[in-house]
Amino acid sequence: MTKLILNLAETNFLKMNRIKLHDKYFKIFIPYEKIEESIIKVAGRLNRDYINKNNPLFLSVLNGSFMFAAHLMKYLSFDNEISFIRLSSYSGTSSTGEVKQLLGFDRPLKGRDVIILEDIVDTGETIAEMYNMMLREQVASVKICTLLLKPAAYRYSDTISVDYAAIEIPNDFIVGFGLDYDELGRNYKDIYVLDK
Ligand code: IMP
Ligand code: MG
Repeated sequence: MTKLILNLAETNFLKMNRIKLHDKYFKIFIPYEKIEESIIKVAGRLNRDYINKNNPLFLSVLNGSFMFAAHLMKYLSFDNEISFIRLSSYSGTSSTGEVKQLLGFDRPLKGRDVIILEDIVDTGETIAEMYNMMLREQVASVKICTLLLKPAAYRYSDTISVDYAAIEIPNDFIVGFGLDYDELGRNYKDIYVLDK
């Protein structure tokens, strides 16, 4: 049997202390090892909490959460399903004006145990929208699982609890591990913060 041994020092071409995306500079903030360790801890909690549930459904919110979702899934030990969704807003003709839609999910959610996967919860507007949609779909339960949380920015702490947050960060703008600055930077395996 062939054993594949990767020498990280040789393959680490995306490990840099400072990167430039568009017009802005970012500096290293959370190294990959710390991210992975935090994801493993969250997976451990999910494994304990969902062991006796009936086939929970992860809804990974695109685009930012694709990398988090992929890394988290490797450590889950209970049967589950995953689907990738997207929240789109457009100006409708209804009196409310703005209409939010869930793209990418066509099966009924009624009665399912749903776990929303986000890359980052900032003000919480996105997650609140998703959460209320799930209630309207009459899911059995809905929990929120995010790689990153900015507690100081989160506006819904009284009403919607962020059940699983792998890493809490201050109110800074970050990129990497799926997160972007104007669509760039998602490919970096470490997380970087805006260098002011
Ligand atoms: P919220 O609706 O204010 O909670 O913002 C959530 C969305 O904004 C996330 O899913 C991200 O797409 C984006 N976002 C918030 N903070 C950051 C950041 O620091 N870096 C990159 N994207 C962010
Ligand atoms: Mg996002």
